[in-house]
Formats: sequence, structure tokens, C-alpha cells
Amino acid sequence: MKLIAPSILSADFARLGDEIKAVEAAGADWIHVDVMDGHFVPNITIGPLIVEAVRSVTSLPIDVHLMIENPDNYIPAFAKAGASWISVQIETSVHLNRSVQLIRECGAKPGIVLNPSTPIQTLEWIMEDVDYVLIMSVNPGFGGQAFITNSLDKIKALRQMIQSKNLNTLIQIDGGVNEKTIADVAAAGVDIFVAGSAIFGSDDYQKTINSFREKITDR
Ligand code: DX5
Ligand code: ZN
Repeated sequence: MKLIAPSILSADFARLGDEIKAVEAAGADWIHVDVMDGHFVPNITIGPLIVEAVRSVTSLPIDVHLMIENPDNYIPAFAKAGASWISVQIETSVHLNRSVQLIRECGAKPGIVLNPSTPIQTLEWIMEDVDYVLIMSVNPGFGGQAFITNSLDKIKALRQMIQSKNLNTLIQIDGGVNEKTIADVAAAGVDIFVAGSAIFGSDDYQKTINSFREKITDR
């Protein structure tokens, strides 16, 4: 199972409903929503209100990536707004196990996000409790940044860790995924591909997603 998750961070927000319908028609599997608070990352973006609006225009799963401090304070609101997958940054959550349990209690599937410099060893005692791990391949905060190449080795190491524990944890990648990088990312062992600028910045969403699909099939 290989999933493509357009990040609406790079969509035209004045036409957000149309943009989401367009990527859904173009073959997107998930809608990725980047929530930023101006504290954990130097940018402010989206709250539960927008997630609720997104929920009303698509039947695709909504994947909420929380780049915020004190995520536990907001997880219930995002789940209620319609998020079916919710991920928290490992660097912000002191009581990570509690955050993960809270996501599940709210009826969503929990994920953990690692910044580029955060080692995968931090996952050792939480991995079995989550459905997915998101490896950031840029420093979170903005779309359109260059892919950090050593993320490929990190993905491979994570894939081995998941296999050695006999788990089914999905691996997600986010940042700098485009026509040039996606084949290598797929070969490293990724299941879910987030892409913002490479999809919403392209002229033809369907052509771009189809081309991504060709490059990730059977990898
Ligand atoms: C970055 C966000 C990403 C962003 C990716 O902090 O988490 O989801 O939208 O953008 P691109 O695909 O343009 O690197
Ligand atoms: Zn993201």
C-alpha cells in the first residue's frame, strides 16, 4: 500500500474547497493538514475550524500533522473536526504515551513525527503503540524546502527497526518530496508520501500524481 497525501499548505487558500476536490479527483489518497502554532515552528497556519471545513468537501481521510506545543490541549478538537489520523512531534510531547492514548481515545489513529535531527532510537518504547511514524525530511515550518538527503538512511534504519519488532507501522515522509526525490524515497521503504509544493505548484495535479504513482509502484 503506497499512499499519496497532498499537503494543503501549498494550496490556494482563497479556493481551498476547489483545491481539495481537485486533488481528490486527481487520485490523492489522503489530505495532509499542517498545523503550526508560531511557537514550535516559526509559522502559524490552520486550526480545527479549517479542518471542519475540509471535512465537509471530501470523503478522503484527513491527516493532521501537529507542529504545536502542548498538543494534548488540541487533539480532541482536531479529532472532533474530522481528523482520522493525527500525528504529534516527539520533540514537543513530554508525556508522549499519554498523547498517543488520547488520540486513540478520540477515535483517530496516532502517529509520531521526528524532526530531521531526532534519532529513531527515541521511538523504542512507543513504536508498538502507534499506527505511523512521520520522518521529516525538511525542518518543519514551511513548504517548498529542499529534501535533506540523509533522511533516506533514516527511513531504511526505521524500516529495519519496524521489521525487527514484527510491527506493521506505516512510514510517512514529509518535506521536499517531488519528481526528482520520490523514487529514492520509495526505494528506502516509505508507505505514505506527503507532497505540498510539488503537487499544488504543478499545472496538472492528475499528471503529477500519476507520475508519482509510476515512480513509487513496486518499490
Ligand atoms: C512542512 C510541512 C509539510 C509541507 C511540505 O513543515 O510539514 O507538510 O507542506 O511541503 P513541500 O512538499 O513543499 O516540501
Ligand atoms: Zn506536514
